[in-house]
Amino acid sequence: MDTRPILLVDDDMEMRRAIQETLNRKGFPTEEASDGLQALERISKGGLRMVISDVRMPVMDGLALLREVRRRHPEVIRFVLTGQTDDESVYRTVGDAHQFLMKPCPPDVLKNAIGRALALRERLANPAVASLATEMGELPSLPETYRQLCDELNSPEGSVANVGRIIERDPAMTAKILQLVNSAFFGLRRPVSTASQAVAMLGLETIRSLVLGVGLFSHFERLQFAEGFSLHNLWDHSMETARAVRVICDMEKISPADTDALYTAALLHDAGEALLASGPREYFGHCAAFAVLNEVSLENAEREVFSCTHAELAAYLLGIWSLPDIIVEAVLFHHHPEEVNGEGLHGPLVLFCADVLCGHSDRVWSAHPDMEQPIKLLCGKGLEEKFGAWRKRWEEIQS
Ligand SMILES: [Fe+2]
Ligand SMILES: [Fe+2]
Repeated sequence: MDTRPILLVDDDMEMRRAIQETLNRKGFPTEEASDGLQALERISKGGLRMVISDVRMPVMDGLALLREVRRRHPEVIRFVLTGQTDDESVYRTVGDAHQFLMKPCPPDVLKNAIGRALALRERLANPAVASLATEMGELPSLPETYRQLCDELNSPEGSVANVGRIIERDPAMTAKILQLVNSAFFGLRRPVSTASQAVAMLGLETIRSLVLGVGLFSHFERLQFAEGFSLHNLWDHSMETARAVRVICDMEKISPADTDALYTAALLHDAGEALLASGPREYFGHCAAFAVLNEVSLENAEREVFSCTHAELAAYLLGIWSLPDIIVEAVLFHHHPEEVNGEGLHGPLVLFCADVLCGHSDRVWSAHPDMEQPIKLLCGKGLEEKFGAWRKRWEEIQS
């Protein structure tokens, strides 16, 4: 068992004590620091598995602290625990925090969040994924325009007005974003002719997700794929699933921040398929043949042939990019939301349902050759009726 302590960083001693008591009772050893600088000194000595930090503190605030931890000790898991709701938009960007929690945080919510963060890393530590990634050579890097957008929004002088200008500095990205925004996917009444207009029409977060998806798929366009694989179909499926995620989130009144994160997850959820199809291509062919011969799902065939699945490979990449846990977790478990130890309608379950709504079961790379397995899972969660309502709404939108 991992006995490395969790570092609690908060200038409020009472708050530190309360969280410490909760965590110790749940079996997590802890240490404390009262500001960012003290925390950084402790972290540099090593031996910690996680830091849970307040945001507003004297000497060095939580934002500066977590940015430094990310740079110097990327292996340490980074949580934000704050009482200020407006801190959320700052932290919901790439990298600085893996998870964002609000004070007061009930003990079970905190315990569950920590448990899920640890379980996620345990799964991502599958050596087969890392060795396949190494065999593939260079993995795509975080799209540069996306990184610049996050930096802009993270900076104290950052402004939404600059976002359009940053996108416009990349003409290829701008052309693709405009083409997408003016396509039937968004059904806008008026054509959009600049990136700034696109931001104004669709909102900053949607555009930022699209920049990430377009950036990754532009990288894929330069690759050679195994026969039978269509990048075009994969992109359409990703866009459709992202749209279905929004429908479910709107109907279930899921918070805007979680909705945006799951929208991004949907755009990227099957990116592992493109990675597998562009990697050791002869295996890709074996995989399809194995599924047919053995009458197993293609996901099981992936496991047999590659010793890992497209979901694991995509989540591994997004983990390297340091995207927030909510995105990485949804992608990793998008075919197996039952493996997540979470209550109710959590992220992986939303993405799974959106994927099913978009007919993933009909696609070549299906994990579910029929609908039986998803329906059984939804019944077990008491979500069968809700799923019926989402499907009805989805069909109305399609018609
Ligand atoms: Fe998938
Ligand atoms: Fe899918």
